[in-house]
Amino acid sequence: MRLKDKVALITGAGMGMGRAASLLFAREGARIAVLDINAEAGEETAALVRSDGGEAAFFRCDVGVEENVKKSVADAVTAFGKLNILFNNAGVLWRERDFEVTRTDERIWDRVMGINLKGPVFVCKYGIPELIRQGGGSVITTSSISALLGYKRAQDAYTASKGALISLSRSIAVVYADKKVRSNIIHPGFVDTPMQKELSEEAKQGIAQLVPLRRLAQPLDIAYCALFLASDESSYITGAEIVVDGGLTISGA
Ligand SMILES: NC(=O)c1ccc[n+]([C@@H]2O[C@H](COP(=O)([O-])OP(=O)(O)OC[C@H]3O[C@@H](n4cnc5c(N)ncnc54)[C@H](O)[C@@H]3O)[C@@H](O)[C@H]2O)c1
Repeated sequence: MRLKDKVALITGAGMGMGRAASLLFAREGARIAVLDINAEAGEETAALVRSDGGEAAFFRCDVGVEENVKKSVADAVTAFGKLNILFNNAGVLWRERDFEVTRTDERIWDRVMGINLKGPVFVCKYGIPELIRQGGGSVITTSSISALLGYKRAQDAYTASKGALISLSRSIAVVYADKKVRSNIIHPGFVDTPMQKELSEEAKQGIAQLVPLRRLAQPLDIAYCALFLASDESSYITGAEIVVDGGLTISGA
């Protein structure tokens, strides 16, 4: 029960890592506010948590729309009485529209930045005051190893949005430290989630061969890192970045 008596708000919790984190956090004692733009997926995650013996409520929310986030945070507080953990997990990767800068449309830049960067901004804007009301809390934000590397096949809006999250998280860590609000970043490598559904099995095997640990991550690999950052076990860690990529970014091979 590493999150006993805590309430966690998780964005993009309808599938992938957000769903895995919802189930894991609930097993560790947290009550979960499941936020997602996809109502069917979000309701399903909340139902899965409940059938596993946990407590969860779904709130439909497009994190790129400030009013949606404001309302969802307020609704989550009404439902659970408080917030202790904000997990900024929602993100979009649009391989078929997001390319290198010379080929990427302004509308794609705006929407990707709106979801991937402004989403966490809005969650923090309305969520951090709730953490402060509880005497502090933990903000966890999912960036990506894409923020640390360049790729020949670029997705520059995605990459830039994820890079900006590093600076944002550090600033939050410093500004709210005296209120006992911690802020940390996770950089997943390749994770086998619906986001990677366009990758063929062959492509996934090819990527796995480049990873020193010789496999893609599973959603739980990332959720366990988030669990540690959410829990009081990491109470002296703030402004940090944790790479969870099976060694991909440190491999010279
Ligand atoms: N899968 C990977 O290989 C990988 C690697 C590095 C980083 N990441 C990051 O990890 C996070 C989770 O990724 P995933 O692979 O689980 O993704 P996913 O696509 O499997 O799931 C993302 C969830 O976010 C929701 N979502 C999308 N847009 C939203 C919006 N505007 N508002 C609210 N919810 C929205 C989707 O409905 C979905 O339920 C993302 O931030 C992603 O960028 C993923």
